[in-house]
Amino acid sequence: MTTTITSDPTAATTPEGNDLPVVAPTTIRIDRSAIVAPISRRIFGSFVEHLGRCVYDGIYEPGHPTANEDGFRQDVIELVRELGSTTIRYPGGNFVSGYRWEDGVGPRENRPVRRDLAWHSIETNQVGLDEFARWCKLTDSELMMAVNLGTRGIEAALDLLEYTNHPAGTALSEQRIANGVKEPYNIRMWCLGNEMDGPWQIGHMSAEDYGKLAARTAAAMKTADKNLELVVCGSSGSSMPTFGEWERVVLEQSYDYVDYISCHAYYQERDGDLSSYLASSLDMQYFIETVVATADHVKHKLKSKKTIKLSFDEWNIWYLDEHQASDEVNDAWRAAPRQLEDTYSVADAVVFGNLLITLLKNHDRVASASLAQLVNVIAPIMTEPGGDTWRQTTFFPFSVTSRLAKGEVLRPQIDAGTYPTKVYGDAPLVDAVATVDAGHSALFLVNRSQTDSIDVSIDVKDLGAHTITEAVTLHDEDVYAKNTLENQDRVQLKQLQGAVLENGMLTVTLPPVSWSALALA
Ligand code: AHR
Repeated sequence: MTTTITSDPTAATTPEGNDLPVVAPTTIRIDRSAIVAPISRRIFGSFVEHLGRCVYDGIYEPGHPTANEDGFRQDVIELVRELGSTTIRYPGGNFVSGYRWEDGVGPRENRPVRRDLAWHSIETNQVGLDEFARWCKLTDSELMMAVNLGTRGIEAALDLLEYTNHPAGTALSEQRIANGVKEPYNIRMWCLGNEMDGPWQIGHMSAEDYGKLAARTAAAMKTADKNLELVVCGSSGSSMPTFGEWERVVLEQSYDYVDYISCHAYYQERDGDLSSYLASSLDMQYFIETVVATADHVKHKLKSKKTIKLSFDEWNIWYLDEHQASDEVNDAWRAAPRQLEDTYSVADAVVFGNLLITLLKNHDRVASASLAQLVNVIAPIMTEPGGDTWRQTTFFPFSVTSRLAKGEVLRPQIDAGTYPTKVYGDAPLVDAVATVDAGHSALFLVNRSQTDSIDVSIDVKDLGAHTITEAVTLHDEDVYAKNTLENQDRVQLKQLQGAVLENGMLTVTLPPVSWSALALA
């Protein structure tokens, strides 16, 4: 595939006189006043579900040489800290829709072994709320809790809230104290079920039924604590047949009681169409704009003063078609089976980095986001039982963005060429976002061209920056290169060569199919 020129009509020629495609230089202007939003650390959230080897043989492996007294792997804890994830959604996902939280608290030897119908697995309950909350402390994470609205309802949600957040003197708060946790957890963010629009979900409901249940559960939870931040389920993807209508109906029922509506989106390369895949963030942008428009429509209809925020609490690359065609979810009823263990390429990481750019560009409405998931299951961090832990390609854009993006998000003005895609029509070749903090700023950029490096001139005068303190890129001659157990460091970040900052103009050359980050001071 060759990229086409759309913004520069000048075509170069080969010595033989044939036309060559020329990629127009891209110009970007950073305007200090084009503020999207102050950065909330919650945009760098992640997700731990009782699924496959995310918890068991992932974060938790009592026999591992690095395991602590709780059975949590220290090597994994260190990588999670390096990743820089913040808020962690727990315990599901589809798993939560059949989960009894009480099974996972109290003496471990008394905990029941159950079937998890969502993933056809055995749940030993050796890790539950109290252990996971301790793990969150070790990783500096905020715990974001999901309640089961699939097989359960208001009462179980209120019980869980009493156990976690009530100080003392009631049956369930005293039970927590007896379990060794004196201080309440004060969990702020709560998901009202999971993907209730999906026919695969245990207890799947119509929008109307779910909206009513979510409203009643939310109202009751806010009676206990009006400062809770509640997330009502939106759509499981922009291609769901009910997308848009689901959000409208659910919000009309629950608007007064909830604070966020969730969005979930997974992307993968299909039918060898890398061009469209590299432009996947255009779907995420469409998804966000549609949900914002729908939420604001309901706001005006109800004459509400409140604006609903978006919690993009599942986003990632997931080779879902391959997963569905596989027999990894089967009738064998195993504990911690290997499920959803996708291995990510350089191209996957470039798309991934672009999704993160899109979340930042919409941070005025997308107030919280969770990378799904954290360890082993469609994850940036992989582990082997008794063995190593290593970084997938997607680890790098996440860790660098989380470390460098501070202060406020700025929306850049980008003038870039385009290239044709089957799915999205003409797509911009370059995407970017900027952040600025006192004395420090950062730029995150992608080049979607498969054939050409692109010269980018960025007017950063408004940032008052004089020095480039860091310039890295994720790029490889082989866009399908991956890190694996056998070759854990095959793909690494490289220095972005040739970046120059002079008189407020930053010039960089972005390699084909690349994600890059620059820090300025
Ligand atoms: O993240 C994997 C699964 O994807 C989650 O359990 C579910 O919510 C979604 O469909």
